Amino acid sequence: MLPAINVMRLLSAAVLAASVVAGPAYAQQTIKLPAPKMDGGMPLLEAIAKRQSKRAFADKPLTNETLSNLLWAAFGINRPDGSERTAPSWRGSKETDIYVATAEAVRMYDPATHTLRHVMDGDIRADTGRQPYAATAPLVLIYVADRTRMAEAPAQDQTLYAHVNSAFISQNVYLFAASEGLATVVLGNVEKKELAEKMKLRGNQILTFTQPVGYPK
Ligand SMILES: Cc1cc2nc3c(=O)[nH]c(=O)nc-3n(C[C@H](O)[C@H](O)[C@H](O)COP(=O)(O)O)c2cc1C
Repeated sequence: MLPAINVMRLLSAAVLAASVVAGPAYAQQTIKLPAPKMDGGMPLLEAIAKRQSKRAFADKPLTNETLSNLLWAAFGINRPDGSERTAPSWRGSKETDIYVATAEAVRMYDPATHTLRHVMDGDIRADTGRQPYAATAPLVLIYVADRTRMAEAPAQDQTLYAHVNSAFISQNVYLFAASEGLATVVLGNVEKKELAEKMKLRGNQILTFTQPVGYPK
């Protein structure tokens, strides 16, 4: 027989796990994502053959499992010793953080713990692209590089490397989307200064691209 407090903990963990995208009551908690699936999916060449930008999104949230797998594929840890990621980065600086904007909050993916940390409440999806469809996706990934993690690189190279790293991450997302039948498009046409202000980013952070993801309409 489990003590009542443990049952309560199990129940709240289950409720939390069921409400990653849509649970305002838990909006400010750190969300532990389910363990990512690191095998299976579509054969690589088939996913490459199917990769394309899609800009119309159905009104349907991603499941926790899909979100977990998506973020892991994007820039999760793929070495047994926890050292490196699914996308390369300059001297392994791993300078890019992935923010996830949904209808109720902005969260940041922490690959080390495979969690989503609450950053701010509110819906900023409409600010993640000049074109209106960004706001219609259930979630928008926002790629933000931290210059302090590549301080040894000259400033102009930091900007270049930030964009290059985001592009690798974005392609992982494109291929995962192709494999899972999701719609996505990388966006450079973004009011980056306004979005950075809205997200209260620091001066040493570089917002590179955004990328809405959802089911195709
Ligand atoms: C750096 C970059 C920025 C992009 N910015 C936008 C954008 O702001 N809006 C948009 O609709 N598509 C954007 N795209 C997507 C391209 O328009 C798209 O990749 C291109 O038309 C080829 O289509 P495909 O991805 O289906 O092969 C961008 C792509 C890249 C690589």
